[in-house]
Amino acid sequence: MLDKTKRGWWKDAVFYQIYPKSFQDSDGDGLGDIPGIVRRLDYLEKLGIDGIWLSPVYASPQADNGYDISDYRAVWPPFGTMADMETLIAEAKKRGISIIMDLVLNHTSDEHFWFREALKGRDNPCHDYYIWRDGAPDTPPNDLRATFGGPAWEYVPELGQWYFHQFAVKQPDLNWENPAVRRELYDMIRFWVDKGVEGFRLDVIDNIGKEPDRKITARGPRLHEYVRELSREAFREPGLVTVGEAWSADVEEARQYSDPGGSELSMVFQFEHTFTDCVPGGEKWDLAPLDLPRLKRCVERWQRGLHGRGWNSLFWDNHDLPRVVSRWGDEGVYRVRSAKMLAAALHGLQGTPYIYQGEELGMTNIRLPIEGYEDIETRNFYGERLARGYAEADVMASVYARSRDNARTPMQWSRAENAGFTDGTPWFAVNPNYTEINAEAALADPDSVFYFYQRLIALRKRCPVFRDGDFTLLDPEHERVFAYVRRTADEQLLVVCNFSGEAVDWAPPAEFGRAELLLSNCGAPGHGLRPYEAYMLYRGAVG
Ligand code: GLC
Repeated sequence: MLDKTKRGWWKDAVFYQIYPKSFQDSDGDGLGDIPGIVRRLDYLEKLGIDGIWLSPVYASPQADNGYDISDYRAVWPPFGTMADMETLIAEAKKRGISIIMDLVLNHTSDEHFWFREALKGRDNPCHDYYIWRDGAPDTPPNDLRATFGGPAWEYVPELGQWYFHQFAVKQPDLNWENPAVRRELYDMIRFWVDKGVEGFRLDVIDNIGKEPDRKITARGPRLHEYVRELSREAFREPGLVTVGEAWSADVEEARQYSDPGGSELSMVFQFEHTFTDCVPGGEKWDLAPLDLPRLKRCVERWQRGLHGRGWNSLFWDNHDLPRVVSRWGDEGVYRVRSAKMLAAALHGLQGTPYIYQGEELGMTNIRLPIEGYEDIETRNFYGERLARGYAEADVMASVYARSRDNARTPMQWSRAENAGFTDGTPWFAVNPNYTEINAEAALADPDSVFYFYQRLIALRKRCPVFRDGDFTLLDPEHERVFAYVRRTADEQLLVVCNFSGEAVDWAPPAEFGRAELLLSNCGAPGHGLRPYEAYMLYRGAVG
């Protein structure tokens, strides 16, 4: 078992993200909950993961599914109680699984006590916890837009002031320039550390140094000063794992965030690779076919850029992204094979892999009529694009491909009604393909995507090259094949993936002629590559 008191243990770890609302209901109200997660810990132990990144379970009016927190020290009642949370932490720990809490430090809910106090008047001690600007009701301080659509400023007539919100109106941004705010947040983090939480995922951490007057939202001038202070004051134990969500980070900045000296964070989530199937310079909604050479160059830049100088996190999916098998694999006849191929492509890399719930089953995207979508971003996008004159069919094509709700359909546990997710009415649509794609079926089939992930996790623990090896990209311009070599002084690992539904003529380098086949998704490699074929060949010290 990993020694989780030591800095760097996460380099050997694989994490699993749970979106609690959609994971497992235990009391029939149609919403996933904490006792439901506890019930599924044996399943996660079987998969072999070392930690759970738990999306927010705090008290919240749920304007953004819990990313709008009204009390950081309380659990949202439909998810359970503080006692349930303590049980989860303890039961997970027994199975060698750490709980990594989501921390939303950039903003709160407008229903948080601090904001309600702030509204009482400019003299209230909490007023300066948020970002206010004086002004007339019809002239916002500037034209900054909110990420979920509309202006980033909201007027409060009683105060004659505007407050800043990078996300929804109900998510006012905290004023990090106020030391009292920072102190409150650090104390709150210690509350959770004392409860046995072993790490944190820091929501949109790159936004905390913002200077809205200068229209700087991410990567503000004081960002790294704040991150270092946060790390020093709140993340004192060297074994605490910290993952910053940083949409704006480039390689150089990620080195700073994840400097091995430990002055900032363990690693960051950056998203550059998730734009390799978007119109260049466009938004995530502006669809283009996957440009595989572009994806490969992006991965190469991050692999080489952080090797020995920082640490990558590895992911295809999360609660804000569509399902990767629908995106870059095949939902049809090659679903299982392409899901495994995508897993191999990612898990062969250097960094800490994150599996998003259901990815280990090859769960797919969903298509709903627009009224069926719950996500605030999706709804606002739909309204805004129609208002700007886009054709409805095009807007819906973007929604089907990119809506965050693709990832938020309930976890598919079995063929039972509602996929075994709930005995009640699910809060959100269950993907009708649950009768075929579900955990029970996967566990009964030795060739399932689940067992492929299980093997990948075990391999990472067996061969140090996964953690330590450098990275050489083969055939960078090849349009279908993603192949790379990882090397340490005494090991070599070759990862070969066919990203297409067609057979490809491709042969591994001669040095791998007599190498060990670590795993594959189509049996022994033959001549060329079969559709979505993937394999890993290994030469090295470890038998
Ligand atoms: C992050 C979260 C996302 C949320 C947003 C605002 O990007 O991952 O789900 O909506 O921050 O908190």
